[in-house]
Amino acid sequence: MKYKILPVLSLFLLGCSFGLSADVLNVSTPESTLLLQATKGGQLKFLYYGDLLDAKEVKSVAETTPARYDAYPFFGSYPQNESALSVVHPDGNLTLDMEVEGWKTVKNGNATETVITLKDRKYPVTVNVNYLTREGDNVIETWTDVTNKSDSVLKLLRFDSGYLPIRKSDVWMSQLYGTWANEGRVEEAPLPHGMKVIQNKDGGRNSHTSHAEVMFSLDGKGRENEGRVIGAALCYSGNYKLRVNTDDTDYHHFFAGINEENSSYNLQPGETFVTPALALTYSSEGLSGVSRNFHRWGRNYRLAHGDRPRKVLLNSWEGVYFDINEDGMDRMMGDIASMGGELFVMDDGWFGVKYPRNNDSSSLGDWYVDTRKLPHGLKGLLDSAKKHGVKFGIWYEPEMTNSVSELYESHPEWIVNSVGRKPVEGRGGTQLVLDMGNPEVQDHVFDMIDTLLTNYPDIDYIKWDANAPIMSLGSNYLTKDNQSHTYIEYHRGFAKVMDRIRAKYPDVTIQACASGGGRANWGVLPWFDEFWVSDNTDALQRVYMQWGTSYFFPAIAMGSHISAAPNHQTFRTIPIKYRTDVAMSGRLGMEIQPANMTEEEKDFCRNAIAQYKEIRDVVQFGDIYRLLSPYDNKGAASLMYVSPDKDEAVYYWWKTETFVGQQLPRVPMAGLNPDKHYKVLELNRIDNSPLPYEGRTFSGRYLMSNGLEMPVTHDVDYHKRNDYSSRVLRLQAVD
Ligand code: DGJ
Repeated sequence: MKYKILPVLSLFLLGCSFGLSADVLNVSTPESTLLLQATKGGQLKFLYYGDLLDAKEVKSVAETTPARYDAYPFFGSYPQNESALSVVHPDGNLTLDMEVEGWKTVKNGNATETVITLKDRKYPVTVNVNYLTREGDNVIETWTDVTNKSDSVLKLLRFDSGYLPIRKSDVWMSQLYGTWANEGRVEEAPLPHGMKVIQNKDGGRNSHTSHAEVMFSLDGKGRENEGRVIGAALCYSGNYKLRVNTDDTDYHHFFAGINEENSSYNLQPGETFVTPALALTYSSEGLSGVSRNFHRWGRNYRLAHGDRPRKVLLNSWEGVYFDINEDGMDRMMGDIASMGGELFVMDDGWFGVKYPRNNDSSSLGDWYVDTRKLPHGLKGLLDSAKKHGVKFGIWYEPEMTNSVSELYESHPEWIVNSVGRKPVEGRGGTQLVLDMGNPEVQDHVFDMIDTLLTNYPDIDYIKWDANAPIMSLGSNYLTKDNQSHTYIEYHRGFAKVMDRIRAKYPDVTIQACASGGGRANWGVLPWFDEFWVSDNTDALQRVYMQWGTSYFFPAIAMGSHISAAPNHQTFRTIPIKYRTDVAMSGRLGMEIQPANMTEEEKDFCRNAIAQYKEIRDVVQFGDIYRLLSPYDNKGAASLMYVSPDKDEAVYYWWKTETFVGQQLPRVPMAGLNPDKHYKVLELNRIDNSPLPYEGRTFSGRYLMSNGLEMPVTHDVDYHKRNDYSSRVLRLQAVD
C-alpha cells in the first residue's frame, strides 16, 4: 500500500496532526487511487476513484477535476439529493450543515487509516468519515462514526456506511439474487434511471434473496478478465440497503449501509454510532480481478483462519437427517475415515431431553444430549472419532428456541417479539428467535458454547445454524422508546457473543449456516471459517450458485459437498464424477450416507479426496480466474485457480447442457505465466484412454491464447455413458 500525499501539502498531514486548510487526500492501494478534497471550514468532496495515479497525476487530476459531490452527503441544504446521513435534532430540526474540522492519518501496523472529522455549523454533532487501507492490499474499507455531543437524544433516520459517485458511461451492475436452495444467482444489467435498491429485511439471515455485495463494470457488460470494475461489499450481518440513484447528473450515486427501515436510532448524549465497514475495490482486470481482490483481502483480514487449509469432512444431514444414533454416527465416521476424510460433523437431531429433537418442531435451546439416541454422550462420539482417526464437529442453532422447549418454558421473555403480542412462530410451526440484544441472552448463548468447548476440548468444528427470520419485531429488554433498535441490538449482541467465543476458543472451526446460504456475508466471516453455500447440493445447480458466490467469496470459505443421486432437492441423477468435480472447486466435503454408496463410488471418492489434498492449497489459497460463465448459456462453464507464484493451477470444466451435435467453445485459460511451461495431468479420470494432453507440457502463453479442447463426452464403456461431462486438470510448471 502506498499512502501518498501531495508533497506541497504534506506539511499539514504528517503524523496525527489535524490539517489546517484545503487539501487533497490520497487514499491509494497498489492498484487504485481514491482522491478526496478536504477544505477546513468547508466541505469534504469526492474527486476520483480508479486506476493508481502517480504523484504528478494526482496533482493534475486534483487541479482539473470539479469537486462536485460530497464524499459523504448529509440531508440538509439540498434535500432533493439522496443523502447518506439524516437525523432529527432534539429541537426537531431535520438538517445537517457539516464543515470539515480536520483530518489525520493513523498508522497501525500495516494499516493506515485516514480520518476526516466534520462538525455541524450549529448543532453539537460530529461525524468521522474513515478510510482504511492495508499494505499490499487493494481494498479500501470506509465507515462513519456519528457522535452526539448535545445533552439530548439525536435521532438517526438514515446512517449509511459510505457513498461513491460513479461516472455514467455504459455502467453495468452485477448482483446476486436468489432464494432458499437457489442462492447466489448472478444478474447483470445496465443501471436503469431512477433508484435501484437491493435490500434485506430478514433480520438474521441476509444473503438468501439478495446480497450486500455488488460490482459495477464501467465499460459495458462486465468481462471476466479485462475491463474496469468497482466492487463493493457491505460488511454487516443484518438488514442492509444498497441504493444506486441514477438521476439527471452525469453520475450514478451509490449508497450502502444498514437498512434504516424500522430501525431509527436514538443516539444518547455522548454516544457514538459506528456504521459497519463498506469494502471497496477497483480492478482493471475485470470481474475476476475484483473477485481476486476481495478473496485476498478476505483471506488475509476478514475470514477466520484465512491462512489455514480446511479439512475434508462428512456432514450427517442429508445422510440421516434427524435419525441420529450412536451406531450410525460411528459407522459414518468409519466410512469418511476410510475415504481419506479428516472430519465428521453430526448435524441436527442429537439433543433434547424432555422434548427430543426428532423433527424441526421442538427442542432448540435444550442443548443436552439425548442419551436415548447417544447412550455414551458426546464423549462416546469423540472416542469413536479418535478410534477412526478423524476430528469431530457438531451442529448448533444457538440464537434460536422453539415454543416447545424447556428453554422457552423457563424464559418466554427471552425471545424477539412485539411486546404484548402472541409470538409468530417459524420453522416447524414453533421456532422462535432469541433476543440477542438482551445481555442475559448473550450470557446464556455464550455459556452454552463455553460449556460445550470446555467439557469437550476435542470438538474441532461447530456448524452454527440459523433457520428463522426475525418475526413480530420488538424486544422485552429494550425500553419502549428504543423498540426500533431491535434489529441493530440483535446484531450487536450477536457480535459480542462471537467476540467472546473467539477470544476464548480461537482455534475451533465454525461454519456459518443459515437455512443454507443465508449468512454468506463479510459481516459474519471474521468469526466464521466458512459458510454453507446452499441447502441445494445438486451439482449442476451448484455450478451456477458457486459461480455467483465466487464473485465475492473465496473457495476456502465455500462449503461444497458431494451428495446423493438422485439429489434430494432437485431429484436429478448426476454421476459421481460430475458431483465430485463440482464439489472439488470449493471446500470439499460430503453430505451423503456412505452406506448407500457403491464400492466403486467409494473408491472414486477415496481417490478424489487424495487428489484434492494435493491441490487443496491452490484451490483454497490461489487466485480465481473465471473463464466461461454458465450464465452465458454456451453449454459449458469453466474456471481455474492459480497459485500466487503461478507454478500450479487447477482448471475446471463442466458441461451444463447436452444435445447431440452440440458445438462447445474452446476455453482459453488465464492467470498463468506466459513464459512458464505447464505439465497437464487430469484428476478424477474415468475415461478408458487418457486425454491427448495427459503428461504433455504447454506454455502459459499457448494455454491462455488457445486453451485445450475438452471432449464433449467421456470415453467410457457403453453401459457407463450418461449425459454429464466434466474435467479437472492439474497444471504444474516444469523447468
Ligand atoms: C438447515 C441447514 O442449512 C441444513 O444444512 C441442516 O443443518 C438443517 N438446517 C438442520 O436442521
